[in-house]
Amino acid sequence: MNPRPIGVFDSGMGGLTAVRRLRRLMPSENIIYFGDTARVPYGNRSRETLLQYARQDLRFLESFDLKAVLVACGTISANCLEDLRPDSGIPVIGVVEPAVKRAAAETKTGKIGMVATRASVSSGAYERALARTAPGLEMRSLACPLFVPLVEEGRFRPGDVVIETIAREYLAPLREPAVDTLILGCTHYPLLRDVIGGVMGPSVRLIDVGGEAAAACRNLLAEGDALANRETGSIRCYTSDHAANFERLASLFLGEDLRGKVEHVDIAQY
Ligand code: DGL
Repeated sequence: MNPRPIGVFDSGMGGLTAVRRLRRLMPSENIIYFGDTARVPYGNRSRETLLQYARQDLRFLESFDLKAVLVACGTISANCLEDLRPDSGIPVIGVVEPAVKRAAAETKTGKIGMVATRASVSSGAYERALARTAPGLEMRSLACPLFVPLVEEGRFRPGDVVIETIAREYLAPLREPAVDTLILGCTHYPLLRDVIGGVMGPSVRLIDVGGEAAAACRNLLAEGDALANRETGSIRCYTSDHAANFERLASLFLGEDLRGKVEHVDIAQY
């Protein structure tokens, strides 16, 4: 049993989709979330910049006495996870491996698609994880750089002509020849589940990377007898930009009201 909080970070709000799953799976846990909204999006940045940002994000979170960190950002998980782990004295869980394991278990045809930011796709991390997990399965990866800014602008609902048009164009190469399983390789994308599902059709399974990582985090803590056992856990959020904007949009990602629970942090100090 371990009552210390779990830290979670992302470039912005997307990681709250992983927190949503964490809250459902482990309602007793206290969670500290950092969203780097002053520097979002991360997805087109160089590996050096990503590593610098990720180290600052992690240092900030580690100023709390945590028991684990969930890197709820596909871009950082794909590019920097192995560099971050030695910096930290606690388990640092990324989103790539758990999602690839799930996709490998779900696919019937052995053809898996993966959509994510440019930096996630160009890292090759998902292909390497698949080669380790299930050699012989095929993966096709596609960058969808406009998805994150559109989601952060609230343009993610079915019927929105902008997102529908872009999703149809981006996803066309995954429809012919068709994949049967699609990894949503960015924690912003669960908000696009209906739009992406509409384009891909009902026979394609959609795998949410944040959700799979949250489940992996629960399993890890349970194996180490490190779950909390209080009645109800709390959530506290920090943002590098306007707290008010964060509070306003966060409920879309988290499904919970965060008013009064968000503070600004000067991430340059870390
Ligand atoms: N949620 C982040 C990810 O999973 C968004 C990336 C970005 O900021 O571009 O990759």
